[in-house]
Amino acid sequence: MSSNITWHHNLTTEERNKLTGQKGATVWLTGLSASGKSTIACGLERLLLTKGINAYRLDGDNVRFGLNKDLGFSEKDRAENIRRISEVSKLFADSSAIAITSFISPYKGDRAQARKLHEEAGLPFVEVFVDVPLEVAEKRDPKGLYKKAREGLIKNFTGIDDPYEAPEKPEIHLDTSNTGIEECIAAIAEYLASHGIVP
Ligand code: PPS
Repeated sequence: MSSNITWHHNLTTEERNKLTGQKGATVWLTGLSASGKSTIACGLERLLLTKGINAYRLDGDNVRFGLNKDLGFSEKDRAENIRRISEVSKLFADSSAIAITSFISPYKGDRAQARKLHEEAGLPFVEVFVDVPLEVAEKRDPKGLYKKAREGLIKNFTGIDDPYEAPEKPEIHLDTSNTGIEECIAAIAEYLASHGIVP
């Protein structure tokens, strides 16, 4: 961290929530490639916006085209990817918006850091485990990446030759091999409403 820098205060989160009439939070989707994270995130973003709730989706592939284009898939780079996204989603949540992140975020420690960052700032952090058996994800293989990983054309592919550490106590656990996308989206929306995050 640089020296000679000072944190600048203006509105508190509470004041901002009052002025915007909204409560911010981060909905953190985690799961294997092809688990359904992006589809659920897109549907949730649309649902919330349709209800007049400011929401914004941060997606793994998309963010790696810009903000994180210098990062690959080593353990160190994934950690940095998640660290930056944690900071960005915290800013969105602090702006009274619902940040919806869809990153594999395979390592427990990185997700724990994201949670800590939000909790220290008094912002709700809703971890959503988008659970799917590897065989099902591999069968779906919409981008043909599992096939390439099996052929050794992609190294360190999550679930194949890189670990996925499943959440132990996520706020929401979705089984996308047995649950439809609309039902998954509704489950998250219900959680947000029942916890007073959205009206
Ligand atoms: S991470 O682990 O959270 O940093 O990954 P993330 O930023 O979510 O990026 C995952 C998407 O990148 C593509 N991709 C890979 N995924 C996993 N492992 C390797 N080695 C890899 N290489 C490329 C893949 O399209 C992931 O997208 P999703 O949407 O998850 O399928």
